[in-house]
Amino acid sequence: MNSALPASQKPFIKALNGEALPRPPVWLMRQAGRYLPEYRATRAQAGSFLDLCYNPDLATEVTLQPIRRFGFDAAILFADILLLPQALGQELRFQEGEGPLLAAIRSEAELGKLRPEAIHARLEPVYEAVARIKAALPAETALIGFAGAPWTVATYMLEGRGGNDQAAAKMWAFGNPAALDRLMALLVDSTVSYLDRQIQAGAEVVQLFDTWAGVLPDEQFQRYCVLPVKMIIQRLRQKYPALPVIAFPRGAGAQYDGFAAATGATALSLDYTVPLAWARDRLWSKHPVQGNLDPRLLVAGGPQMMQAVQRILQHFQGRNHIFNLGHGILPETPPQHVEQLLRLLRGASMAA
Ligand code: CP3
Repeated sequence: MNSALPASQKPFIKALNGEALPRPPVWLMRQAGRYLPEYRATRAQAGSFLDLCYNPDLATEVTLQPIRRFGFDAAILFADILLLPQALGQELRFQEGEGPLLAAIRSEAELGKLRPEAIHARLEPVYEAVARIKAALPAETALIGFAGAPWTVATYMLEGRGGNDQAAAKMWAFGNPAALDRLMALLVDSTVSYLDRQIQAGAEVVQLFDTWAGVLPDEQFQRYCVLPVKMIIQRLRQKYPALPVIAFPRGAGAQYDGFAAATGATALSLDYTVPLAWARDRLWSKHPVQGNLDPRLLVAGGPQMMQAVQRILQHFQGRNHIFNLGHGILPETPPQHVEQLLRLLRGASMAA
C-alpha cells in the first residue's frame, strides 16, 4: 500500500486551487499510448485497444507506465470517451489505422434504443481500474478521471466516426434541435453517473474533453457546449462541492473567454492555437490554465521546441499554470523528447 498525500497537498491539485508553486506541475494528454514501447507491448498482450480498456490489470499497468518512466504530476485513467456510448448500447469498434467506428444513430426514434440504466454493468472494469491505479500511485501523484463532453460524444454517435466537419451532429443541431437536446440530456445524466462512479473509486479531478467544440456558431455553442458542461459540473458539485474540473473546449477560440465562469469549470485546458498573451490576460488572470505546447513540436524536438516551452513558461510565470500539450501526444513522438521537455521544466524556476 502507498501512503498517498491528501489531494489538497498534491502539487497538481494545489495548482488547480490557485496556489503558487516553484515550478509548474506537468502531465501530457494521451501520456499512456503508442509512443511508448511498453504500451505497445501491453496492448499486444491485451489483444485490442478495447480489450485493454476493459482489463483492470492491464489498464492499470498502462496508466502507470508514463508515471514510472517520467514521474508526471498526474496520472489519467486509461479508457476512452467512446466507452460511454458503447455502454449505452451502441456498437463500437476500433479499426486499425481508421480510428473509432460506431453504428451511427440515424433517426430520433433510434435514441429510444439507448439504455442509460445499463451503463455500469459494462463500465465496472473501468471503476475497478481507477481503484487499482489509486492504490498504486506515488504519494504525490494526482489521479484524473475523465469523460467526453456531450457535444463531442454526440458527434461520434451521430456520425459513426471522427471526421472533419461533424456534419451529422450539425444537421441535428440545425434541423431537429429538440431531438439533439434529448440526446444531450441523456448524455448529461449518464456522464454525471459515470464520473460519480470514477470519483467514488478514487479519481480526484475530472477532465471533460470537448474535442469538437470549435465547429459551432455562437448560439449552438452555448446550447450544446456550454450548457451540458455546466449541468454536469453543477450536478457533480452538489455531491462533491470541492471537485476540481478541467474543461477542454478544443478549438473554441474567442469562446474560451468566459467559458470557465459560464460552466463553473475550475481550469481551462488550452489548445495550441490559443495565443499566449491573450490567454494570460483574459483567462489565466481569473482561472488556472493548462497547456498548450503543439504536440507536433514535441515530435520535432530541438531548439524550436525548447523555445516554445520557454515562451509558455514566460507567459504564465508565478502561479497555477499546469504544463501540458495543446492536444494529445502523437504516436511518433520520441520518448527522449519528453525527457528533454521534463529536464527543462524541472530546471525552470517560476520566480519572476
Ligand atoms: O490521455 C490518456 O492517456 C488517457 C486515455 C485516453 C484515450 N483517449 C486513449 C486512447 C483519453 C483521455 C482519450 C480521449 C479521447 N478519445 C478523445 C478526446 C481527446 C482527443 O484526443 O481529442 C477522443 C476524441 C477519443 C476518441 C478516439 N480514441 C479516437 C479518435 C481514437 C483514434 C485516434 C488515435 O489516436 O488512434 C482513439 C483511440 C485511442 N484512445 C488510443 C488511445 C491510447 C489509441 C488506440 C491504440 O492503442 O491503438
